[in-house]
Amino acid sequence: MTDTWDTIADWYAERLRKGSAMHEFARDILLEQMPDDLTGLRIVDLGCGEGIVARALALRGAGVRGVDLSPRMIAHAWIAEAEHPTGAVYTVDDGCSLATIGDGTADCVTAGLSLNNVVDLKAALAAVERVLLPGGRLVFTIPHPCFEAPGAGWAPETVDDDPPDSRRRRRTVGDYLSEGFWRSGNPEGFRRAGNQHRTLSTYLGALLDQGFALEAIAEPAPPEPLRAEQPLREGLPPFLAATVRREG
Ligand SMILES: C[S@@+](CC[C@H](N)C(=O)[O-])C[C@H]1O[C@@H](n2cnc3c(N)ncnc32)[C@H](O)[C@@H]1O
Repeated sequence: MTDTWDTIADWYAERLRKGSAMHEFARDILLEQMPDDLTGLRIVDLGCGEGIVARALALRGAGVRGVDLSPRMIAHAWIAEAEHPTGAVYTVDDGCSLATIGDGTADCVTAGLSLNNVVDLKAALAAVERVLLPGGRLVFTIPHPCFEAPGAGWAPETVDDDPPDSRRRRRTVGDYLSEGFWRSGNPEGFRRAGNQHRTLSTYLGALLDQGFALEAIAEPAPPEPLRAEQPLREGLPPFLAATVRREG
């Protein structure tokens, strides 16, 4: 069977429930782009998965609707909500249309590690622009395209350290310019469900074409819990986080 986000949803939800330093870091750097107090804000969480970001936003006071293409992910989000209520609500919907969300009804759209999964980025950004109020913001994280490209990996040994340091293996870039769908061959990897690789200029160009203005961008260093799990990641930002504003 070919893996999809829906077929791996049970596994994904269980991994996050046990605690995933990588996903908690991705959630936290998205939250860092936002005010602490979100009371009264209406937020759509695009590609909410099992709700890790949506729950955190709701606990800061926002009214949150998480949407995801995967019914099984949405089922897990409701299970988590039933266990620890936050007020977040969830709907199966395609982020490329956001058909369940009215025009100009959201102060903010968040997209944690999901824009890199939508098949049609242009359509997703048009849908985000449609549902946002004028001046509303899109806050998103994506795997850093420069370091998480198809075929990225770890070089067997360091050749350029002075003095040589055989303990430090370096990241290999992979096929940065090969845009499109790819999936990790790692049967235990999160991206065995696939991922749409796009270059930085494709992301930024699509945002500019849709009329968004860049407000903030960050490439945070991995924190201690993530470095403890994956020491080779030290010195590399696994994610890119950004905030863009809908003009007018
Ligand atoms: C890496 S997971 C991230 C989930 C969650 N935001 C998190 O941080 O754990 C990517 C999610 O994007 C969802 N997704 C992929 N394509 C989508 C689309 N067109 N519309 C809505 N969700 C989509 C997948 O079903 C999956 O739940």
